[in-house]
Amino acid sequence: MENRPIIALDFPDSSAVKKFLTGFPQEEKLFVKVGMELFYQAGPQVVTALKAAGHDVFLDLKLHDIPNTVMRAMRNLARLGVNLTNVHAAGGQEMMEAALQGLSDGANGSAVPKLFAVTQLTSTSETKMQEEQQIYTSLAESVLNYAQLAEKAGLAGVVCSALEASTIHEATSNQFLCLTPGIRPTGSAVGDQKRAVTPQKARELGANYIVVGRPITQAADPYASYQIIKKEWSQSHE
Ligand code: C5P
Repeated sequence: MENRPIIALDFPDSSAVKKFLTGFPQEEKLFVKVGMELFYQAGPQVVTALKAAGHDVFLDLKLHDIPNTVMRAMRNLARLGVNLTNVHAAGGQEMMEAALQGLSDGANGSAVPKLFAVTQLTSTSETKMQEEQQIYTSLAESVLNYAQLAEKAGLAGVVCSALEASTIHEATSNQFLCLTPGIRPTGSAVGDQKRAVTPQKARELGANYIVVGRPITQAADPYASYQIIKKEWSQSHE
């Protein structure tokens, strides 16, 4: 299992990323997350540069479109060499299968990027889901439904809160993975994450990957903070 926390590179442009990475030893190979803010400003080059430096990349663009468009987009993302990427499960089983097809076509014999699904966004409340999406179940049931749909489509797992991980693992097979943001090391500021858990707690709850942003990117010493979080996460792996 992945013993490095995935660092969310929530920066406005590549020069901010470069500056941040100078705080890490060159030989330290990281797993980083590039999201919409950075990707739409810096373009695909930011991914190729990170890959060229030896880092693994989770490209967090949450695709959601008709199957054919998603397949073609995923083909291009796989060509960039991303290690992990995602779609909205709300796009449906056929769209998720098309995404996988695109990734395997684009990988062209290299390792196929892992595909994760976003279920209900954590910004969606049960009331909003029922009123706006007209899904008349509980939020938890909708999350489980989407997780099972993603598994049926052949995806590697879902992005979810660590607090949802155990019910998702119960409802899916052993191989189905939970990738969880909302992580805060013991004693750090929670910020806008409402139900944050520590790296150790995330592991105990069944997270397979953790994504950590501000506790590392905004730390006075990002590398020191990364090492503490990595230790807390990977020790609890043993
Ligand atoms: O700074 P922080 O650790 O809160 O960053 C978490 C990262 O994970 C951010 O990039 C955020 O957009 C992402 N994320 C999240 N909650 C979700 C899905 C993604 O915090 N439900």
